[in-house]
Amino acid sequence: MSDKLIIFDTTLRDGEQSPGASMTKDEKVRIAKQLERMRVDVIEAGFPAASNGDFDAVKAVADCVVESTVCGLARAMENDIRRAGEALKGAKRGRIHTFIATSPIHMEKKLCMTPDQVVEQAVKAVTWARQYTDDVEFSPEDAGRSDPDFLCRVLEAVIKAGAKTLNIPDTVGYSLPHQFGGLILQLRERIPNADQAIFSVHCHNDLGLAVANSLSAVLNGARQVECTINGLGERAGNAALEEVVMAVRTRQDVFTCDTRIDTTQIVPASRLVASITGFPVQLNKAIVGANAFAHEAGIHQDGVIKNRETYEIMRAEDVGWSANKMVLGKHSGRNALRQRMAELNITFASDEEFNGVFKRFKDLADRKHEIFDEDLQSLVNEEVGTNVSDHFQLVSMRAHCETGVLPVAKVVLSLGGEQHEAESQGGGPVDATFKAIEKIVHSGTELQLYSVNNITSGTDAQGEVTVRLAHGGRIVNGQGADTDIVVASAHAYLDALNKLQANLERAHPQV
Ligand code: KIV
Ligand code: ZN
Repeated sequence: MSDKLIIFDTTLRDGEQSPGASMTKDEKVRIAKQLERMRVDVIEAGFPAASNGDFDAVKAVADCVVESTVCGLARAMENDIRRAGEALKGAKRGRIHTFIATSPIHMEKKLCMTPDQVVEQAVKAVTWARQYTDDVEFSPEDAGRSDPDFLCRVLEAVIKAGAKTLNIPDTVGYSLPHQFGGLILQLRERIPNADQAIFSVHCHNDLGLAVANSLSAVLNGARQVECTINGLGERAGNAALEEVVMAVRTRQDVFTCDTRIDTTQIVPASRLVASITGFPVQLNKAIVGANAFAHEAGIHQDGVIKNRETYEIMRAEDVGWSANKMVLGKHSGRNALRQRMAELNITFASDEEFNGVFKRFKDLADRKHEIFDEDLQSLVNEEVGTNVSDHFQLVSMRAHCETGVLPVAKVVLSLGGEQHEAESQGGGPVDATFKAIEKIVHSGTELQLYSVNNITSGTDAQGEVTVRLAHGGRIVNGQGADTDIVVASAHAYLDALNKLQANLERAHPQV
């Protein structure tokens, strides 16, 4: 048994299937680079046949990532596999991941295929994929509800056709840990050529068991886990990368394998994904939640002061929480900023990009006394995420609140370079601002979610706002951050409108 556990990150593919988590090509590239820095073994960058946008994104990731294998998803169909092969042409190491459902309900009701036809199609898919790369992964979708005898038959056949990784998905999150671990062991023992492939698992979190099921599978011989940052993913999400990695690393007394992950990159990756997708991390989320290492009870605090191991099983700094929290202030110059950014492993594509961040830093320092690492990460996300060619831009705004008077907001926007202004009343300053924006843009969108989170503590903290808009069957999340949450809200609203404007169509891979 290998002592290496392969980490296959699917944040950019299954993670992107969370409603509203669609990412642009540039956003995918930024996350992919962070995953590479974290030493993820395989990055599933998308589903190239789903849309031209996704094809371009997978191609862009394949062209720039060198340390990790880049993977593209494809249904067991010739055209999907061809698109995946084309998108991955520039990859130093490219993998095609092809799948077809094997559970009775999926075969009969969704695919309208007999089991024999499914086996035949699976073998064809792997054979087509092998024309593009030696690194082919096969998934029997809904394996958690498939007949083990049938799984053995399909998997033996696809290994013969050249699949090197067999990924066993619990697509609907139905399995329990002892069952799922047992299934992996059974497959490994019963499939005659099982030793010619690596067993992988891909668990969904509908019953909150995705990580437990994945770990049970590892204890039973799986050597690849598919997971996502912050557990993002379809419905209740996928197994959280940070939880799988830290469970295996922390319990080396139980696991006989370990990952190559640089765990100090986990918190920066979590923040980046949360900020790009607009899915905030819950405070008590394991490893990456703001409270994950905070001891509140006096008895705990006392114990930790005497010996941290009394209540801490991991060190916060080992997963990327910075020990030195207060970093910079109003008088810090360019060198101090550059140095702190380098310590945070943040690099800049050009001097122009750094200058943009420095300007944002100075503006923020005028309004906020102490600038923390979290603020710096948010500034970079804002700078890199803002595109000068964005159609909708905030030129200026004013909002007025007074007890007993309806709040009113006035906004000046630039639309494709042309300035427009409007004023509106509203139930509160944010409502008035959104209504004023709508008076100009007439987007016809539906506001599905509005949330504000403070990036750091204190009343002068920046508020990070997420706005989710739906239009014509598409859902997008926009983000904005500012010490003034009404301004942050306007930025978030315009960010969402710009994403809709960019018209990133994509299809659901499992439809
Ligand atoms: O959940 C699932 O079954 C999937 C497959 C495409 C692996 O995401
Ligand atoms: Zn999935």
